[in-house]
Amino acid sequence: MIVTRAKSLKGSFQVPGDKSISHRSVMFGALSMGTTEVTNFLEGADCLSTISCFRRMGIHIDYTPGNSTVLVRGKGLYGLTRPEGMLDVGNSGTTMRLMSGILCGQTFQTQLTGDSSIQKRPMGRVIDPLTQMGADIKSLPGGGLAPLTVTPAKEGLHGIHYISKVASAQVKSAILLAGLYADSPTSVTEPYVSRNHTEIMLKRMGADVSVSNTTAIIAPDARLTGDRIEVPGDISSAAYFIAAGLLVPGSEILIKNVGINPTRDGILRVLKAMGASLEILNIRNTDSEAAGDILVRHSNLKAAEIGGDLIPTLIDEIPVIAVMACFAEGTTVICDAAELKVKESNRIDVMVKNLSSMGADITATEDGMIIRGGKPLRGTLIDSMEDHRIAMSFAVAGLLSDGETTIQNASCVNISYPGFYQDLDRLGAFK
Ligand code: S3P
Repeated sequence: MIVTRAKSLKGSFQVPGDKSISHRSVMFGALSMGTTEVTNFLEGADCLSTISCFRRMGIHIDYTPGNSTVLVRGKGLYGLTRPEGMLDVGNSGTTMRLMSGILCGQTFQTQLTGDSSIQKRPMGRVIDPLTQMGADIKSLPGGGLAPLTVTPAKEGLHGIHYISKVASAQVKSAILLAGLYADSPTSVTEPYVSRNHTEIMLKRMGADVSVSNTTAIIAPDARLTGDRIEVPGDISSAAYFIAAGLLVPGSEILIKNVGINPTRDGILRVLKAMGASLEILNIRNTDSEAAGDILVRHSNLKAAEIGGDLIPTLIDEIPVIAVMACFAEGTTVICDAAELKVKESNRIDVMVKNLSSMGADITATEDGMIIRGGKPLRGTLIDSMEDHRIAMSFAVAGLLSDGETTIQNASCVNISYPGFYQDLDRLGAFK
């Protein structure tokens, strides 16, 4: 994919459905009694991996490519059946980690595998707490890496109180899901609150879930009931268009129906503090998954300091925030974000290497990066490392750079945003 400097981006559109909520709608729908109707389901490769895994465990899911309404015919907590062969999660960490929690409660053995990136990502963070609950979950190659084998727990699962070192919704969700199969309540305390889609959706479906500060608690043996789930647009996908709209001169974009759950909206808060012209219109659903329309206008940005409890609320947006920081006045410091090293790629290294090669003044730190804004970027060859968020971040950087930015393995955007380049094109980015 070759990207050159854009003149202006204009128009109104919708980004595809939220990835985290789409995954959960299929998983929790499968564990509910009755049908869960999901609209605006994200047809990205990751969520299709989740559909495929649950189909292989006997769940009937009505999904045809090109139709984002999905019907999940749930069979209740004990309705999954043993799949033939290994379950393949592809590139999806959410599928592997959340499913680990569910599979620990089953009466059949399973093996979980995925692509080369997933086989390098840490699974010890779910293996450890699940083992404490009595689960039999093992890393086949050792070192806490996938493939994993999950064998029925000999003495069943026990409720625990787990204090997590990382603020991770995937870890929290895996433990809460295993907690559905435990003999007493299970709770998870995190250093900072991570995204709470699991708590919201399980509660709506009938689970006894409560939250107090950074602790989530679940009671076992819920009788979950199928729900209607309208998936809002993914704020993590909107982020690339927010960035392009703010930075390409003369731009004005309305992104309709974006999820603005307060555990996910850190990017909006940071950008407002950086001086961005962002208006959130038509706010709705504030009692569950809040959504709104985001109006973005070209703005001059100032640097920011980003760390602490903000990090989990914008963790997936940090690559594109780093791109924006190159154009902000002053020095942006991102800290407390060591989790970036264990995403689909090492996002600290990959951002620093690629932005440096475009001429940015950026330094990697142990837990983030320091970006001194104001240096012009020039196009060059960018290796996306097959990481969707890296590819999309550098497409935005390319719109703001001299010369040509060539993105290698650009099609990895299909993981979370299959129509990404087409949507940029419709707004005039490639004119
Ligand atoms: C996700 C949680 C986050 C995020 C990922 C999706 C989820 O990961 O980076 O893209 O759906 O629970 P961690 O929980 O590991 O921080």
